[in-house]
Amino acid sequence: TGYFTYDSGFLSTASCQSKVTYIDGDKGELLYRGYPIEQLADNCNFLEVTYLLKNGELPNAAQKSDFENTIKKHTMVHEQLSKFYSGFRRDAHPMAVMTGVVGALSAFYHDAMDFSDVEHRNVSFNRLVAKLPTIVAMAYKYNTGMPFMYPDNELDYTANFMRMMFGNPCEKYVPNPVLVRALDVIFTLHADHEQNASTSTVRLAGSSGANPFACIAAGIACLWGPAHGGANEACLNMLEEIGDVSRVGEYIARAKDKNDSFKLMGFGHRVYKNFDPRAKLMRKVCHDVLGELGLENDRLFKLAMELEKIALEDQYFVEKKLYPNVDFYSGIVQKALGIPTDMFTCIFALARTVGWMTQWEEMITDPEYKIGRPRQLYIGAARRDVVPLAQRG
Ligand code: CMC
Repeated sequence: TGYFTYDSGFLSTASCQSKVTYIDGDKGELLYRGYPIEQLADNCNFLEVTYLLKNGELPNAAQKSDFENTIKKHTMVHEQLSKFYSGFRRDAHPMAVMTGVVGALSAFYHDAMDFSDVEHRNVSFNRLVAKLPTIVAMAYKYNTGMPFMYPDNELDYTANFMRMMFGNPCEKYVPNPVLVRALDVIFTLHADHEQNASTSTVRLAGSSGANPFACIAAGIACLWGPAHGGANEACLNMLEEIGDVSRVGEYIARAKDKNDSFKLMGFGHRVYKNFDPRAKLMRKVCHDVLGELGLENDRLFKLAMELEKIALEDQYFVEKKLYPNVDFYSGIVQKALGIPTDMFTCIFALARTVGWMTQWEEMITDPEYKIGRPRQLYIGAARRDVVPLAQRG
């Protein structure tokens, strides 16, 4: 005993069997339930994709409308939940607030613990999908000192989210359909990505039989890091730091320097070694949004395009197969949409909740499911005896 395969960072270990999402990193292919992400982004809205991920099939028109109505029933949060926000400092990072508030949902929904009942699992899924936009928007409003906006169920999912973010009780909010559509595609592109760090975290937390709302909070915590979902925020901060096209070369040189820990944020991926198909789609969304808003000459956007161009031609990046990933463009689009930098990862979390809950349910209903319990290669001290305090040197 004590000898196990060592696979730091799970480079070659499959942690589960799954029917949800397929990635071919060499081809740059991403399929949700078999459907290419490009077709889903072009033909479906986020709630259709949500239905697909959860149920395995795209909805027909009646199923789509039923599902939308079901989600609308759950968009409000318990009034007591709003009190959690006031316990945070106004300048708290919204991901810290999200981790706390979503974790707190577990205290409101004890019925979520009956995993054997499909209705209970469905209602937990629907509650989370419906409430995440409300919770994210409340985190933003709390930061800015503005009143919370109740959901408006006359609007569809994404327009409602934008209203809760950018609307106020004094004025009628009229969503711009081009921007709503862009954000909806962003949600679709982030909805699932097989066994990434945060999804594996949700599965591992859930494997002990924990409350699924608490497991989603664990996923949010994991997503926060700059190597994962926090990369979009880190990328925008990096662009601000570079500041001007004339300094791009300096930062490219730093990224290549072995003695410098600096990495180009928004570049590279563990699985995609050709290109990230989400990045291609996000690049198009980026152009659409900047065009709609007349921001093509925006300083940061031009800087990003220059960085992309140089990195794509640079031998270091070509040899190491480092391409812009989804986070490279998503930060620019979100900034153009008026979403503040520290909220970017919250948007990611909102969308990824669909994937997390889908994967959680797949695990919990798997007849072969066991608690996740990795082993280790022990490299510490050999057995030794405790020396009484008076005799220790
Ligand atoms: N800039 C400069 N060098 C890089 C970069 C980068 N962005 N990414 C990887 N490298 C180098 C790395 O230093 C290593 O060099 P060497 O072979 O000399 O040791 C080589 O490329 C392989 O990289 P790795 O770190 O071993 O690869 P990984 O699969 O462990 O990490 C990654 C993948 C995404 C964490 C990493 O590329 C990275 O930190 N990128 C920047 C952060 C980022 O954009 N993350 C978002 C990922 S996509 C969305 C998501 O998953 O949430």
